[in-house]
Amino acid sequence: MDGNEFIYEADKNSTILEDGSFTWKAPSNIALVKYWGKRNVQLPENPSISFTLSNCFTETTLEFKKNKREAKVTRLDDEVGGLSATAIEQYHEFDVFLDGERKPEFKKKIGVFLRRIIGVIPFICDYDLVIRTHNSFPHSSGIASSASGMAALSLCIMSMERALNPSISDELFYKKASLLARLGSGSAARSIKGELVVWGKHEHIQGSSDQYGVAFPHKVHENFKNYQDTILLVDKGEKVVSSTVGHNLMHGHPFAQQRFAQANKNLSKLSEILQNGNLEEFVNLVESEALTLHAMMMTSNPYFILMKPNTLQIIDKIWKFRKETGSHVCFTLDAGANVHVLFPAKEKVLVNDFIARELVDFCQKNEYISDSVGTGAKQM
Ligand code: DP6
Repeated sequence: MDGNEFIYEADKNSTILEDGSFTWKAPSNIALVKYWGKRNVQLPENPSISFTLSNCFTETTLEFKKNKREAKVTRLDDEVGGLSATAIEQYHEFDVFLDGERKPEFKKKIGVFLRRIIGVIPFICDYDLVIRTHNSFPHSSGIASSASGMAALSLCIMSMERALNPSISDELFYKKASLLARLGSGSAARSIKGELVVWGKHEHIQGSSDQYGVAFPHKVHENFKNYQDTILLVDKGEKVVSSTVGHNLMHGHPFAQQRFAQANKNLSKLSEILQNGNLEEFVNLVESEALTLHAMMMTSNPYFILMKPNTLQIIDKIWKFRKETGSHVCFTLDAGANVHVLFPAKEKVLVNDFIARELVDFCQKNEYISDSVGTGAKQM
C-alpha cells in the first residue's frame, strides 16, 4: 500500500450524509515490546506489540452536521508522512465533552489530530462536529486515555466514510481507522482490532506497517489466551513528562539506535514465544522491555524518572513472589508510575490473592483495575 488507497474524496454536493451520529467503544492496550521514539509524522522508530485490554475503554459518540462554509486551503507537505496532505484553516467547528462536561482543554490535541487527517479524510471539513466521550476508568487514574480515545474517534470518522462510501472493504476500514488513530496518538494505532496488535514494520511479521496496526498474524499458544492484566494505580497525578516529550528525547539519545535494534530483535523473539507458549521467556522479555523503556527516560537529556518508590516496592514483591511460588506473574510499565501485573488465566486465584495481600497497599487509596485481554473496538 503506498498511501493513495487511503484517500477518499467525497462529493461535497452529495446529500447522503447531512447529519447524524456514530458511537464506538475502543479499548486501551498495554505494550509488551514498547514504542518509544518517533519520526514525522507519528511514524514509529521501531515496531511494537501490545495486548488489547477489555475493561479499560473509551466510548465516544461523534455528532456531525454538514456546514455550508467554504474551507480555506493551504498545502502542508509531509503533514501526514507520505500521504498527500492539505491543511485547512478556519474550516469547521468542533466541540468536545467528557461525561457531559464541555472540555475546551481537549480541543488543542483534537484540533491537531483533525488537521493531520485532512489529507486522507478531506470530507471532514464539510461537517461541524460534537465529540462526546466517556472513559471506563477515572480521568485522574494515571491511565492514558489517548489510545482508546483516539481509536474510538477514528472509528466514528470511519463510520462516516463508510456511510458515504458503502463499498469500502472491512480490511481497508480497519486499516484506515488504525492509520487515523496513529495520527492522533501512536499507541492508538494498536487499539482497533485484534487481541495482540503489531504496529510498525518488522521484517518477519507479514503485513506489518509503520502506517497502521495489524493483528498478530500467527496462532497464539493457549497459555496466552485470556491473559490477565491488573493495573495497580500507584500514582494518579498528571505525568511530569508527557509521552510526546519523551519520544522526542530519543532524537540524539546516545542509546537510540541500539534500542531500536533491540526492539526489533525482541519482537522476533516474542513472536516465537507467543506461538510456543514459553512463559519463562515471556516474563523475562516483557520485564526487560519495561525496564529498558524507563532506562531510556533516565538516560535522556534532560533525564527524568516516572517510577515512584511504590513502583519499585511492587516490582520487588513480584520478584520475591515468583521465586517463592514458581508463578509466572510479571510486570510491565508504560510511561508512568502505575504497574501492569500480567499473569496467565490459570494462575488467577493464586495471583489475585497475592495482589490483595501484598500489593494493594502500594496503590493510591488501595485502587486497582482488574482487566484481561479483549478483542478490540465495537460499534454501539
Ligand atoms: C510508553 O502513544 O502515548 O506507552 O504518539 O506521542 O501520543 P504519542 O505517544 P503514546 O506513547 C506511548 C508510549 C508507551 C509505550 C507503548 O504504548 O508502546
